[in-house]
Order: sequence, then structure tokens, then C-alpha cells
Amino acid sequence: MHANQPLHICVNGVQQTLAMSPEASLLHLLRNDLLLNSPKYGCGLGECGACTVLVDGVAARACVIPAAGVAGREITTLEGLGSAGLLHPVQQAFIDAQAAQCGYCLSGMIMMTASLLAHTPDPTELQIRQALSGNLCRCGTHLEIIDAVQRAARLMAQARTAAAASPASQASQA
Ligand code: FES
Repeated sequence: MHANQPLHICVNGVQQTLAMSPEASLLHLLRNDLLLNSPKYGCGLGECGACTVLVDGVAARACVIPAAGVAGREITTLEGLGSAGLLHPVQQAFIDAQAAQCGYCLSGMIMMTASLLAHTPDPTELQIRQALSGNLCRCGTHLEIIDAVQRAARLMAQARTAAAASPASQASQA
């Protein structure tokens, strides 16, 4: 048994200092200490994707990452992706595609999609299937989820086009 140790971590843009057991998982920290309940406990083995969050912008399984291993890193959960008044395009696309059923896998699916589109803005269907192959949905909404990812890619492309055409963007290029 080890004594709790201070851990400095940035979660959803907020710097936090927490007293943590070195053995605690990132998922435990997020759910139990910070009361961020979007990442779910599914398998606890890194195999279902329900606990997926972003670590420095890349999808990661919070159940198998020691909290001590993310000291100084930026963690993003679904709570930090968008807000009720301004949804992230991936959140909007999942709503538009009606890609939720029981919802247990949904946070992980959305975070994995956000990670995919940040690095592969225009993925093929095969790339989408491969990226989400480790995120399990027991309700069987896979086709709607693929549709949601494709919708999200289009929404993000439209946003990039609009931003590039904005007066502020054109002024900065002049
Ligand atoms: Fe983390 Fe299943 S709960 S991958």
C-alpha cells in the first residue's frame, strides 16, 4: 500500500492537483475524484472502449492508464469536448444520425471519433471501421455510428471552409 501522492493534471482545460494513490487508474480519477461520468467502466481491461478519453488530443483507454502516468498531460473528456450551447461537430453529428441507443458506449465512440477526425479529417469508411473497431456497441448501432462519423467529417470540413472564407482569416493572409 502506497501513500497518496500529489498529481498535477489538466482536465478539460482546468489545472487540478489531486492526492492520488499511485495505483489508481485515470478512469478512477475522472469518475470518482472529479465526478466526470462520461467515460464509462466497461471491461476494465482496455478492450471495450467505453472509457475512451483524449490524452494530449489522442484517444486513450482511461481504465488501463495509471493516473500517475498522465501527470502534466492534457486530458479531455466528453464534458470538455463541447458545451450544451455549443456542441462539438462530432456530438452534433451523433445526434443528427440518431446513433445512440442505450448510450453506454457513446462517450467512448464520440471521443474516438474526435481523435480520428483530428488526425484524419476525411476518412474512408474502412478507416472509420478500423478506428472504431475497438469500441464495442452491444446495441448494434454500428451503421448509424459510421453515418455519424461521416456527417461529423462533413460538418468539420464545412467549418474549416467557412473559417477560411471569413474576413478575419482573409485579413490575416493579406
Ligand atoms: Fe476501458 Fe473497457 S472500460 S476499455
